[in-house]
Amino acid sequence: MADTPKVRFDNRVAIVTGAGGGLGRSHALLLAERGAKVVVNDLGGAVDGSGSDTKAADKVVEEIKAAGGEAVASYDGVDTFEGAQKIVATAKDAFGRIDIVVNNAGILRDVSFKKMTEDDWNRVLKVHLYGTMFVSKAAWEALRENGFGRIVNTTSAAGLYGNFGQANYSAAKMGIVGLSKTLAQEGGKYDIKCNVIAPVAKSRMTETIMPPEALEKLLPERVSALVGYLCSEQLQETGQVYAAGGGYIARVAVVEGAGVRIGGDLTPEQVVESWEQINDHSKAQPFQNAMEAAGAALKG
Ligand code: NAI
Repeated sequence: MADTPKVRFDNRVAIVTGAGGGLGRSHALLLAERGAKVVVNDLGGAVDGSGSDTKAADKVVEEIKAAGGEAVASYDGVDTFEGAQKIVATAKDAFGRIDIVVNNAGILRDVSFKKMTEDDWNRVLKVHLYGTMFVSKAAWEALRENGFGRIVNTTSAAGLYGNFGQANYSAAKMGIVGLSKTLAQEGGKYDIKCNVIAPVAKSRMTETIMPPEALEKLLPERVSALVGYLCSEQLQETGQVYAAGGGYIARVAVVEGAGVRIGGDLTPEQVVESWEQINDHSKAQPFQNAMEAAGAALKG
């Protein structure tokens, strides 16, 4: 343990979106404490995305500076490309470059699918999925030119596994996984690594739905250590998803079973006859990319 090199971000510039509170604040503090110059972005609105306020981002910038770190505030929304471009411009204007992007900003509009309006759907998709894409896109060219980049995106168990009342949020969060896996592949030759976290933590988003005793074990700092490693130079992995909360950290994977190969004319009855084997995951495995997955159908 003692020989593990320190994870440091000296001379690195990081953007953390939604960093005015909760997980984002904690990620920003960790990156700054370890030498990164940080853009603390936050629109400063309510959990449902309404309103805006500059105080949230300002407060975290003050905290970072008080601890001897370097940071600048950004109040632009991630939910438009124009906003995302301004966030990236803030990094370039203040610190001259951009190396790390932590896409963390988020809102909730929880409601059963029956009652969900188009507006509930659009707003959640705009902040989470489009926001992640807009900020990554605005920073992409600079990361390519660096020949170095670390992008950490934020999914949720609700996206990976589904959750009652969160059709909009689940769709957005699983969309982020697909986006991240493709960015990992396209960024590979420029040393742009893109990974995803599925956190569980105490924040204003969870404090009304989890008991206080549970929340005290789920401090955001218990997630930020993983984010720190995923932003580091020593990181090798890309295109991966990690669940994290309360000190628990585990890789999550989309896997495919060994399946079945049925020759000749394939009928629905033959599918029924093979149903057990089709559903068997005892030899399940992940694939590196879509081509490899498609190859499974051509084998044999
Ligand atoms: P939070 O509400 O404290 O943090 C989200 C931040 O994003 C807020 O400060 C908010 O002002 C900001 N934000 C919202 N819309 C924005 C926009 N358009 N542009 C810029 N900033 C904006 O909640 P928390 O829990 O810290 O959430 C952080 C991320 O983690 C979110 O993406 C959330 O979906 C995700 N997450 C959190 C979990 C948890 O257990 N706390 C569980 C699974 C995922």
